Amino acid sequence: MGIDSPRVVATRAELRAALASAARPIGFVPTMGALHAGHGSLLRRARSENAIVVASIFVNPTQFDRPGDLAAYPRTNAADLDLCRREGVDIAFVPLVDEVHVPGATTTVHPGPIAGLLEGAARPGHFVAVATVVAILIDLVGPERAYFGEKDAQQLLVVRRMARDLAMAVEIVGCPTVRDPDGLALSSRNARLAADDRAAAPVLRRALVAARDAWVAGARDADSLRSTMRGVLAAEPRVRVDYVSVADAGTLAEVAGAIDGDVLCSLAAELGSVRLIDNETLRAT
Ligand code: PAF
Repeated sequence: MGIDSPRVVATRAELRAALASAARPIGFVPTMGALHAGHGSLLRRARSENAIVVASIFVNPTQFDRPGDLAAYPRTNAADLDLCRREGVDIAFVPLVDEVHVPGATTTVHPGPIAGLLEGAARPGHFVAVATVVAILIDLVGPERAYFGEKDAQQLLVVRRMARDLAMAVEIVGCPTVRDPDGLALSSRNARLAADDRAAAPVLRRALVAARDAWVAGARDADSLRSTMRGVLAAEPRVRVDYVSVADAGTLAEVAGAIDGDVLCSLAAELGSVRLIDNETLRAT
């Protein structure tokens, strides 16, 4: 890694040229920019496990269902490249849309039933778009490993499933959620929270911690875990709950009644115009 790292490339041809002489293994961290300490932890993990690190900074338009959300998505390119430099990224791929999505392309990747649940139910087409862009980016970069945050648990599951089903020669590595001291999961969207909403937002984490505490104390009924989380969220009037879920950790099918395996507790809520998600996996063993 040189002092002038990262090498910034914008086209597929430049990326290919930069990778031609690259050492292996390659660790790849796909991002949509607006990088924060959560991305920092992915980059550090990639740095520690690979000879070179490639990060992509690409606000993928196809995965936004609301045009306003795409327009409002923070763009902080200079700060992003600075973080990449500090974390020892060798190559930053910062493409325009046509370099990733070939104009007129009609081929997409459909992850199956898990793509229609939870975030997929709230945001139709979202995971088809995510799986498609991740497949394109992995194909362009050709990494041995690709890194994703557990904060987006469903995205991680979708990407793992895709890599397995399409026999991709890449290891998908999940990394723990990074949180502010008050428990709020780091997200590029947090910057858009109004002060009162930011103060209320840690209630999402408190709801999940309450479910985890109940689980540790022996609770094994999915309906009661959902009630526990809803009870905590109800105490915060600024929060508009979208869903509260206790689902099979492998299929994301909602569990009714008794739990007999690992479950993913997840929730989504709006504060003002900002939609936040968080999750906690509860393991049977
Ligand atoms: O998690 C994200 O930032 C995006 O969904 C990803 C994986 C970079 C694909 O655009």
